[in-house]
Amino acid sequence: MFSRAWIFVGHESEIPQPGDYVVRRVLDDSFIVVRDESGSVKAMFNMCLHRGMQVCRAEMGNASHFRCPYHGWSYRNDGRIVGLPFHEEAYGGEAGFNRKGARLLPAPSLDSYNGLIFISMDPDAPPLIDYLGDFAFYLDYYTKQSSSGIELRGPQRWRVKANWKIGAENFAGDMYHTPQTHTSVVEIGLFREPKAEKRKDGNTYWAGNGGGTTYKLPEGTLEERLRYVGYPDEMIDRMKEVWSQDQLNVIGENGFMISAASIFPNMSFVHNWPKVEDGDDVLPFISIRTWQPISENETEVLSWFAVDAAAPEEFKALSYKAYLMCFGSTLCVRMG
Ligand code: FES
Repeated sequence: MFSRAWIFVGHESEIPQPGDYVVRRVLDDSFIVVRDESGSVKAMFNMCLHRGMQVCRAEMGNASHFRCPYHGWSYRNDGRIVGLPFHEEAYGGEAGFNRKGARLLPAPSLDSYNGLIFISMDPDAPPLIDYLGDFAFYLDYYTKQSSSGIELRGPQRWRVKANWKIGAENFAGDMYHTPQTHTSVVEIGLFREPKAEKRKDGNTYWAGNGGGTTYKLPEGTLEERLRYVGYPDEMIDRMKEVWSQDQLNVIGENGFMISAASIFPNMSFVHNWPKVEDGDDVLPFISIRTWQPISENETEVLSWFAVDAAAPEEFKALSYKAYLMCFGSTLCVRMG
């Protein structure tokens, strides 16, 4: 399954400068996702060409080169080999081992959408946009609220003793759990809607290789409904510039606001609008997750905070607080 799908490994905002990199996994394979000196994004197996040692040991950082800790082969940040100690003595020079053209193995396929970087182990994978299919329509609500795109913070990372499919499936459409599981979040005053009946009101959808849930909003115009979930007018103006009329109609005409969603197989999203300060005002946040299988009954969760890069700084700060209070790793601690 994971060898044929497109797997999310990071966002371009995590690696804005040449040399910035993050290390991410697809099952047991480690990848360096890096912006090279020319500014292009690459994903390479984190595996030395010599004897397979991981050449990058940090989770993220900035580097012009990666040097293998085993025998010291070194690579530019675009993957090209540049240093091979004792090349002459050990290999007889270029005749024995031709360095020219040797490079860390690239991920078989790499593609991106709204700055989200995906890789596939299938060299003949269909274009990402075809794989996403109609889910791209919904993906824009989370990842393109202005022409500036989103920026990510994180990820927080933790493990749960559960199969990875439980989380992915829950985010893809289990509205049924919200009145029960999230009662405690209402009790501590984070959610504005106290009625369990209301908290499950909405629609589910499946589109392309993704699916998710929506909440039903109160009567009102597009602007009133976006204000209801806490977006300031300047952000609403930018949404109106980048979303299609059909995308705007889901909110303004039909009265639905996207909530949780998943892209097959292991990427999820959540959009919610809790109260973050005293009073009735709410603030929306967006979070992106991956459910990384460790074993059949253990999962590593990576959780990012995402926000419109053009949002006012005060909004970003409060939205981050909303995320941490509702969906950060502290929630796991709080709920025991
Ligand atoms: S395994 Fe990397 S230099 Fe030998």
